[in-house]
Amino acid sequence: MRRGLRAALVLGLSALAASCRQDMHDQPKYKAFRRADFFGDERSARPLVEDTVARGQLRADATYYTGKQGTMPVDVLPVAVTPALLQRGQQRFGIYCTPCHGATGRGNGMVVQRGYRPPPSFHIDRLRNEKAGYFFDVISSGFGAMPDYAAQIAVPDRWAIVAYVRALQLSENARLEDVPADRRAELAATASSVAPPAAAPSAVPSAVPSALPVPAPVHR
Ligand code: HEC
Repeated sequence: MRRGLRAALVLGLSALAASCRQDMHDQPKYKAFRRADFFGDERSARPLVEDTVARGQLRADATYYTGKQGTMPVDVLPVAVTPALLQRGQQRFGIYCTPCHGATGRGNGMVVQRGYRPPPSFHIDRLRNEKAGYFFDVISSGFGAMPDYAAQIAVPDRWAIVAYVRALQLSENARLEDVPADRRAELAATASSVAPPAAAPSAVPSAVPSALPVPAPVHR
């Protein structure tokens, strides 16, 4: 008797659950772009009200959102380069780029050490002379074996990463003149204590990025 009651209860409950589920399935609704009789134009999706203004998706500043002016990558970052931007870029670079490009950008990240196609070093002349907008575009669109990171990295963070990549490039190829005059003595003191004479600052190659890198052909 008791067992019968329990069975009836279970049956009843599951019937209830099933009917709920059906209700959700069968509720009156339109799927996207499905035909409808309700409106004269037979479209279920309604046109935008006249004079609707896009909010947050207008993307009127094409350079900021594409890294290009027309079809050419821009030379200069369209955002102010501040210590905060570089720190953010360093952090995002650490998350999204080091797995393949490595912490110094030499292309020997852990994924590459495990067999992924090795990317070129960021410190080769071609990439050193490449424009800022080019790096933004590679992050946004991908390049060859590299997937794009448009979905993972928001536009402001892409520029922060570009700024940091520029700093990395400079860090591997700076001249003594790039160091503020009042701090050069510090550098000379460190260099003479740790580096062999051949690595004195005067021996550093002089082909380095200036404030405005030399334009180079686009490799795409
Ligand atoms: C999954 C591994 C991977 C990650 C993560 C990755 N890359 Fe790459 N990247 C590559 C590979 C591989 C190439 C070389 C692709 C080729 O030549 O087919 C490359 C190439 C590049 C190039 C050079 C393009 C050229 O002209 O040769 C740049 C610049 C670049 N990546 C920037 C970035 C930045 C910035 C990030 C982080 C937002 C990033 N990559 C994240 C794998 C990766």
